[in-house]
Amino acid sequence: MPLVTTKEMFKKSMDEGFAIGAFNVNNMEIIQGIIDAAQKQNSPVILQASSGAIKYARIKYLMKMVEAAVEETTIPIAIHLDHGPDFETCKECIDAGFTSVMIDGSKYSFEENIEITKKVVEYAHERGVVVEAELGQLAGVEDDVNVAESDAKYTDPDQAKEFVERTGCDSLAIAIGTSHGAYKFKGEAKLRMDILKEIKEKIPNTPIVLHGASTVIPELVETCNKNGGDIPGAKGVPDEILNLASKSGVSKINVDTDLRLAMTGEIRKAMAEKPSEFDPRKYLTPAREKITEVVEHKIRDVFESTNKA
Ligand code: G3H
Ligand code: 13P
Ligand code: ZN
Repeated sequence: MPLVTTKEMFKKSMDEGFAIGAFNVNNMEIIQGIIDAAQKQNSPVILQASSGAIKYARIKYLMKMVEAAVEETTIPIAIHLDHGPDFETCKECIDAGFTSVMIDGSKYSFEENIEITKKVVEYAHERGVVVEAELGQLAGVEDDVNVAESDAKYTDPDQAKEFVERTGCDSLAIAIGTSHGAYKFKGEAKLRMDILKEIKEKIPNTPIVLHGASTVIPELVETCNKNGGDIPGAKGVPDEILNLASKSGVSKINVDTDLRLAMTGEIRKAMAEKPSEFDPRKYLTPAREKITEVVEHKIRDVFESTNKA
């Protein structure tokens, strides 16, 4: 199956009430770990690269690895730009063969966000590429922009409707209490499911995206910390809440932090257990396998996209 956009997979997700995992990729092991999991679960999957990932891995290498994944598998795979900061980055990715891009105008005013999103939508749609936009601001640290937790701006459902109508974007990332990174909640983990419900009522046909949706799996944090890491008090969105979101109209769930923890934990463990070993394959192999295990768990037990390929 060739690379696909997210159009068909999102339609199926909304018709059948499940979510699709969008996993951040930065290198070969991460791509292979995710793809192995999605193929085993016979699930559609979204690989996404941030501008930082593109800078690190280089766009041509990324695209060739994604093409290899497509050749080796039978599942629908989309390649998506995560948090596109400006029109130029979106254009670069569209021109390079990405099937989906995000323009993140959430740091701008409502009108400026509409303006920049419209410009990307126009360029993307002419080339058969779909566009994710964002309205509202996530708590915590988001790329270069610092949004204090107390300033978290939840997405306004009426604005969401106007935004989608005026921009023509294909999917919308919303703020309902998630945040990026390993420290999402100080107290109890809570998402504003009431706002999600209201948004779905206003824009029932627009696929909804949840950023900052890692669980910060305690077992992964523990492996890091037991082997020299220092990640105290990390906390994410519990599986039960993400499972409910998957069944309540969220079509795309973004995961990066859990993959970072999986990879780093296994590398730390392998190095701690065998300090005399210096063959990178010896620590990258368990790291890749752990990514597969984590992604399979999410697809099967949380997002419920198994056999939805
Ligand atoms: O939302 C951000 C993603 O976790 C990507 O992070 O910009 O450090 O690649 P990054
Ligand atoms: P996490 O930091 O919760 O994994 O979120 C990733 C994300 O939203 C990427 O866009
Ligand atoms: Zn994000």
